[in-house]
Amino acid sequence: MDVNLFSPLQIRSLALKNRLVMSPMQQYRSTDGLAGPWHLVHLGSRAVGGMGLVITEATAVAPEGRNTLFDTGLWNEAQVAAWKPIVEFVQAQGAKIAVQLWHAGGKGSHAHPAAGFHYLPPADGGWVTKSASAVSLDRQHTAQQLTAAEIASLVSEFAASARRAVQAGFDAIELHAGHGYLFHQFYSALVNQRQDDYGGSFENRVRLLLETVDAIRAVIPTEMPLLVRLSSVDFSEEEDAWSLADSVHLVTLLQQHGVDVVTASAGGFSAPDKTKVVPLYQVPYAEQIKAATGVLTGAVGLITTPEQANTIISSGQADLVMLARELLRDPYFPLHAAATLHLSVPAPEPYLRAFPPAGRS
Ligand SMILES: Cc1cc2nc3c(=O)[nH]c(=O)nc-3n(C[C@H](O)[C@H](O)[C@H](O)COP(=O)(O)O)c2cc1C
Repeated sequence: MDVNLFSPLQIRSLALKNRLVMSPMQQYRSTDGLAGPWHLVHLGSRAVGGMGLVITEATAVAPEGRNTLFDTGLWNEAQVAAWKPIVEFVQAQGAKIAVQLWHAGGKGSHAHPAAGFHYLPPADGGWVTKSASAVSLDRQHTAQQLTAAEIASLVSEFAASARRAVQAGFDAIELHAGHGYLFHQFYSALVNQRQDDYGGSFENRVRLLLETVDAIRAVIPTEMPLLVRLSSVDFSEEEDAWSLADSVHLVTLLQQHGVDVVTASAGGFSAPDKTKVVPLYQVPYAEQIKAATGVLTGAVGLITTPEQANTIISSGQADLVMLARELLRDPYFPLHAAATLHLSVPAPEPYLRAFPPAGRS
């Protein structure tokens, strides 16, 4: 059967009305990890605009899991209560909503981007950051190496936040395992220099992510989809760098542990060669991971036109198209894309006079 950008997709109990996904985008508009009116409008307007799945910004499982003091969280009940009306509003528009859970590890404790995004030491309200190894990820401070006991509590924190995500009514969970944050700090040998069960071999470096997936699967309903965002490659020429072959290997394990979708991003420790950052530059990662493993994939990165998005789906390069910056420019991208592609997609009832069904004006 021919598929296009507006074909539905079923993932466990999640019935998506189309293939358009709002990619997670940190807003730095939270106090005490609480989502608020900004998040309601930011996420809600993309649901009104017709996105099939809306994913929240990276939401921390613990206060020290944040990148800045302004990140959202899911480490307490007040945060569950704050997310609930946002979840309900998005769902009332016919969209689904996933929370992206994360821990920034050694990349945490930074000032607000508008204040320079520099490392914030404990004396200035920040915290001591911890990572796979005692490394500096921002060239401003050195993280401490996590102990085995601390690793075990991290896994429990992820499971507890996943339980809270279910309580808040989220339809799915995405684990942020890319962009140089905690899980990536473990699976990439560029950062992980441990010599215990969590370092050294490939199996040891991916252990934390797999243990976390297991812990989350054990506390969420079987029918709830679990997504993982990976950095498919490290953008580094170093011999130890994470490669696409490593990603394929990891994805086969993630599938065995109950992960349904892999969203294929890249990088986090070093910037890609600027000349290679061109439209669709990360799509081949989603395509190759899908071809090698059969997992459902999301393509992301410099996808900005309806034609590009539709071709990714109709040619089978990926199952989902994730948009970030283009959605900041155009919250109604799906409605505009449907018109461009001559596909009939209903606008929200109160907006019909601006988006009349085809053939009427
Ligand atoms: C303002 C902003 C905030 C972002 N925050 C997150 C985040 O919280 N989690 C994440 O996985 N990616 C984050 N990203 C990356 C995007 O999800 C996306 O992968 C990237 O911007 C490339 O897609 P685009 O070319 O459509 O913008 C962020 C990007 C932007 C522009």
